[in-house]
Amino acid sequence: MKNVVILISGRGSNMEAIVRAGIKGARIAAVISNRPDAAGLAFASSHGIQTQVVDHKAFAGRDTFDAALAETIDAHAPDLVVLAGFMRVLTPAFVDHYAGRLFNIHPSLLPAFPGLHTHQRAIESGAKLHGATVHFVTSELDCGPIVVQAAVPVLPDDDVAALSARVLAFEHRIYPAAVQWFVDGRLSIDGQRVTLHDAPLAPDGWISPPLA
Ligand code: GRF
Repeated sequence: MKNVVILISGRGSNMEAIVRAGIKGARIAAVISNRPDAAGLAFASSHGIQTQVVDHKAFAGRDTFDAALAETIDAHAPDLVVLAGFMRVLTPAFVDHYAGRLFNIHPSLLPAFPGLHTHQRAIESGAKLHGATVHFVTSELDCGPIVVQAAVPVLPDDDVAALSARVLAFEHRIYPAAVQWFVDGRLSIDGQRVTLHDAPLAPDGWISPPLA
């Protein structure tokens, strides 16, 4: 049984999707938030998952916060750490400590639109496709090896609410799938490239690699 630790800062809908999916061969050992008021904490505890808060405001700087966060995470002996709407930039020391076992989901088709306000930027850019990316985390922000992406159309009348909702529905499909692949030992990394072993050959519309 593998241990998965999920970090959130707010709503936690991706964490919820992973919990509801029920990852085979893994347990969600803890959900940890940097904000005591993160809405997702209530969902996690109501599902019998241990919740913890490491409040970044209690620390003088990133180094001390990240050290305390890592200590809290490591008490759960994690095989995989999942950033799910975790809104803190992590230090290189933290990222290196979890090299190859730290996931993030980013609401754009990386390498387009790293950073914030991705939906607004996609609309303003005139892009016809937008989406979400699950990637391994490296010390360069939103630049780690890509595990899976889902694309959605940008429609002529889209505003941020409409577009982000369309993307989020796909986030909730690809993130549990990526976690399951990791737990099953089906992912390997070679430089920037991630291979999903034993992937189905048939394409799956807007999602690559296919989830089935
Ligand atoms: C998601 O759009 C995710 O891609 C981004 O932050 C948002 C978090 O949403 N990193 P939630 O907290 O998972 O509902």
